[in-house]
Formats: sequence, structure tokens, C-alpha cells
Amino acid sequence: MSEMSVVVAGGCGFIGSHFIRLLLSACPDARILNLDLLTYAGNPANLADLATAPGLAFSRCDIADPDAVRSALTAWNVTPRYVVNLAAETHVDRSVLEPESFLRTNVLGTYTLLELCRGIPGVRFVQVSTDEVYGSLGGAGCFNEDSPLLPSSPYSASKASSDMLVRAWHKTYGLDAVITRSSNNYGPNQFPEKLIPLMILHASSGQELPVYGDGSNVRDWIHVVDHCVGILAAMRQGRAGGIYNFGGDSERTNLQVVNSIVDRICGHRDLIRFVPDRPAHDWRYALDSSRARSELGWRPEVRFEQGLSETIDWYLANDAWWRPILTGEYLRFREQWYGARR
Ligand code: NAD
Ligand code: TYD
Repeated sequence: MSEMSVVVAGGCGFIGSHFIRLLLSACPDARILNLDLLTYAGNPANLADLATAPGLAFSRCDIADPDAVRSALTAWNVTPRYVVNLAAETHVDRSVLEPESFLRTNVLGTYTLLELCRGIPGVRFVQVSTDEVYGSLGGAGCFNEDSPLLPSSPYSASKASSDMLVRAWHKTYGLDAVITRSSNNYGPNQFPEKLIPLMILHASSGQELPVYGDGSNVRDWIHVVDHCVGILAAMRQGRAGGIYNFGGDSERTNLQVVNSIVDRICGHRDLIRFVPDRPAHDWRYALDSSRARSELGWRPEVRFEQGLSETIDWYLANDAWWRPILTGEYLRFREQWYGARR
């Protein structure tokens, strides 16, 4: 078994592509199999700079299809030391409209990968999860890894369910598994349905900026590279059965974030529209990451203002990346969701 042989599920997505890039720069000899179904959110262009990386293989594969996953592994012909699961349906608003694919990919897909791992001696499974499994906070305090799981949306319920499966496979079958839970990510290559890229693209083209409710909901923003450094540390050094929170120490209200973006791009705060709220909209997320700091020596390095400013520059300079993906499926969802909020 090669020491650094890794199956990355969801490697063509936002975080998965940054994770593969980090893995290859930390371990240039790593052998990686990227399993990705290439849904609307999966984009091979996210890995265009690594097209010739010798250790990187790709298979278009549905993680909820056990036969497809098994044949991809057989064709790769390498025994993985790690399986890192970043494949998921990830957009809360879509989960409100069409929850079924969230259950299929996030729950059944995780189950399929866990079962696969059960047959591979010495493998470690890493489940990339989210602070949203803990539910919503009031004005004070933050979640630690022992906080109860109280998900509010179909998305977060599916992620909490998959975390439970990982725990059970660890306890029941002794599978070596680690769960990571991060706060809201931002950075280059994020699909423009999420708050920050959506607001950047709308502000730069003079479109309305739809803020849910009164904009007072709070998210703790973490740069995607800081998150990936945490996943890699948990993968290599985390305790078997361990859960690690990764927060960005950058709590902002949505209105603060949107104002910062508009001010930097065009100054037209009059583009902001307060629209009817998302149902079950969690009010605030905040994470206590002290376990990751003490056990993994991790801490977030990127200051939010700096990271946001670089992210804005990236989107403004890379319309060749985002123009082709603002197509059929995305426009259909956008019309259905935001059309109902006019
Ligand atoms: P993303 O939507 O950008 O990418 C998801 C990837 O999974 C895509 O490449 C897609 O093609 C692939 N995929 C979807 N269904 C699949 C299936 N059935 N089989 C194989 N591949 C499939 O998501 P992201 O933002 O990169 O999130 C990655 C992981 O991190 C998810 O598990 C998410 O829950 C978690 N997470 C995300 C955030 C965030 O702020 N984005 C925060 C915490 C945790
Ligand atoms: P989002 O990026 O969808 O992440 P999540 O829901 O997983 O936290 O949204 C971040 C915050 O921004 C969330 O409080 C909802 C809010 N939001 C808006 O106000 N308007 C929008 O158009 C979107 C997409 C999100």
C-alpha cells in the first residue's frame, strides 16, 4: 500500500479541488483518485492547472452507486490509505425545493463509501461535514464538538445523518474514521449560487442583491485554503473516531458581508433588496476550534478582509471560469427560487 494513496470524492467541487491542489503540493508523490459525478456544481475547470499531474486520476462516478464506485477503484488498481468524502449536494436553498438528491448523495453516498472502506484493511475515512449540523445559535456562545446535532434544513439534516453513519461505522465495525466540521467557506472557484460569489457577480453587473430577511444572520467565514489545511491535518494526525471543528474566527452579519462587496466593486448599496427569508433560516453559526488548535496545531491564517478582497479580484478576473456555468440548470433554479421572492 502506497503511504499517500487517497480517494477524494467530490474533487471537482469548490473545496474538493482546493483540497486536491493542497494535497499534491504537500505530497507531490501522492496518488489520488478523484471520484466525481460532475453535477451542476462539479467543474473539471477547477482542476485545469493539474491536468498533467502524474499522480492524479479521475473517474466520473456517482458515490451512491456501489457498483460504479467499486469498478472505479478496481480500474485505479491502487489500495487507498485514505478516503476523503467531499462529494455532496451542498446548497441549502436547493435542499428546500428538492430534498431527494440530498438524501441520495449525502446519506446513501456516504453509506456506500463507508461500506467500501469496511473492505479495505488499514484505510482511514474522512467525512467533511459542516457547522450546520449543530443548528442555530443566539447572540452568545459557540458550538463545540459535543454540542447536540439539531439540523434545521434538509441539507443540514442529510449532513447530520451522514455524520451519524460515520460514527456508527467507527463504533460498530472499528472503521478508522474522522469527521471535520467547518464554518462557511469562501474563496476562488465557489459556485455562484452561494452568498459571496453571487453578490460579487450581481454587484459587478448592476443586478439586485437579494438579502434574506433583514440581513442580520451571522456566519463565521473561513477561507477555503485554511479549511483544506485543517482537513489534511485531521486526515493525517486526527484521532480515530475524532471530530474536529474548523472555524474562521470571522463572524459577520450577511449585511456586513454584502456591504463590503458592494463598496469594493461599485459603491451602489441601493442595489440591495431585502427579500422574504429562507424557511428555517439558522440565525447564527460560530465554532469553538480549540480542539483542532491543540491536537492538530491548526489555526486559520487568512484575515477575512484580505481573503474577501482577493476573492473579489479572482471573480472579476476570471469570467471565463464562471460565464459557462451560469447556464440552464442554474438559471432554472434561480428563477424558481428568487422569482418567488420578488
Ligand atoms: P460543491 O457543491 O462545490 O461540490 C460538490 C462536489 O460533489 C461537486 O464536484 C459535485 O459534482 C460532486 N457530487 C455531487 N453529488 C455527487 C455524487 N452523487 N457522486 C459523486 N460526486 C458528487 O461543494 P463544496 O462547497 O465544495 O462542499 C464540499 C463538502 O464540504 C460538502 O460535503 C459540504 O457539505 C462540505 N462543507 C461545505 C462548506 C461550504 O461553505 N461550502 C462548509 C462546510 C462543509
Ligand atoms: P449560503 O452561501 O447559501 O450558505 P449557508 O446557507 O450554507 O450558510 O448563505 C450564507 C448566508 O447568506 C445565509 O445566512 C443565507 C444568506 N443569503 C442571502 O441573504 N441571500 C442569498 O441570495 C443567498 C444565496 C444567501
